[in-house]
Amino acid sequence: MPDHTKLYVAGVFMLGAVLTVLYRAQNQHADDSEEDRDGKRSSKQLQQLLATLSNVNDLDALKKRLAEVGQTLEKMDGNIREGVEGCIGNTPLIKIKSLSEATGCEILAKAEFLNGAGNSPKDRVALKKGLLVPHSGDTIYEGTVGSTGISLAAICRARGYKAHICMPNDMAVEKSDLLLKLGAEVERVRPAPIVDQNQFVNLARKRAKEHTENPEKPGRGLFADQFETEANWRAHFTGTGPEIYEQTAGRLDAFISGAGTGGTISGVAMSLKSRIPNLKVVLADPQGSGLFNKVKYGVMFDSKEREGTRRRHQVDTIVEGIGINRVTHNFEVGRELIDDAIRVKDEQAIGMARWLVENDGIFVGSSSAVNCVAATQLAKQLGPGHRIVTLLCDSGARHLSKFWANTEPIGGTEQDVSLENILNP
Ligand SMILES: Cc1ncc(COP(=O)(O)O)c(C=O)c1O
Repeated sequence: MPDHTKLYVAGVFMLGAVLTVLYRAQNQHADDSEEDRDGKRSSKQLQQLLATLSNVNDLDALKKRLAEVGQTLEKMDGNIREGVEGCIGNTPLIKIKSLSEATGCEILAKAEFLNGAGNSPKDRVALKKGLLVPHSGDTIYEGTVGSTGISLAAICRARGYKAHICMPNDMAVEKSDLLLKLGAEVERVRPAPIVDQNQFVNLARKRAKEHTENPEKPGRGLFADQFETEANWRAHFTGTGPEIYEQTAGRLDAFISGAGTGGTISGVAMSLKSRIPNLKVVLADPQGSGLFNKVKYGVMFDSKEREGTRRRHQVDTIVEGIGINRVTHNFEVGRELIDDAIRVKDEQAIGMARWLVENDGIFVGSSSAVNCVAATQLAKQLGPGHRIVTLLCDSGARHLSKFWANTEPIGGTEQDVSLENILNP
């Protein structure tokens, strides 16, 4: 074979390999909805090019094909995302250096606050709500402590729907302010137990029904129902879980996360445990939540729930987004896969939030701080040499007026926060 032909053949092989890798990357989330259409189109083009390359038998045809491949690659080069929907998922996995050094374990955190619409893992779930007619007045109703509402409000704007959010009135005011700026209607209601018809989730369900039944209102009302809907855990089963698997090449010993609806921990546990049977899945639970006892002892009870000791109707913690006193469908679907639970006090979470800024420049909200306390405690239990994955759910900016209002100033203070004190308050 002449030298130049050999070179072309080698070139074809290399291109084939590159195209295969690109094709796989494009198809990572093959079950995702409309926002992936463009990605799929490029995948199809690549697939066709792969097929034609394998049939090439003369140099001219090969040159032509190579030029086409060059053009396709050029188009993909810009890595342009389709709107905010295109910025959801594939979040980075960050090594938290300070906690890893202190424990001798690799503590890795999925930076979910970098999801591009509502800046939390809830973007993944909000993306799954594609049933409505754009610009028809169709409205999504949701009961949420904030993050899901913010993700929904952003996606609704992007798709021409309306959003109506019911939330407890003791959540950080930044969240409702942000919702209003995203054009959502917001109802802040008194915190109440789930048996109360005006509890925020029940109210959202009622409002959706009222909308659909009202002939004067344009469009329909859809209750998103994050606590019970299958779409929630599935978003993490098909997205967050497989991403963690790929980012760690399947090499991890434990996954630890808090639960609000339970969608994240259940979906990730189902995805990862089927591929890594020895994986330990651990719940990080804030004070006042009943889930810790449910996982450890099979009963929902927190000592703060004792008669006369409870200060508010919901979970008695400063932490927002995780901790709950009922078993939701999204928690139940993965409950059997949760091996253990670690309880985190508010003061530990506050200390950890400060630690992460002081040592790593990571500024996160309360549920992320709970996750990091529990991940560090788990690392101590497992001993050095293990790899633990957790989540950083949202930014501290969303918690300035409440959770972060409780912290000491950062840097240059007399008493630096110590990990020992955080773990043993
Ligand atoms: C900030 C934040 N972190 C974590 C979670 C918990 O995620 P999940 O509902 O999937 O259990 C939530 C839920 O709303 C949240 O708002």
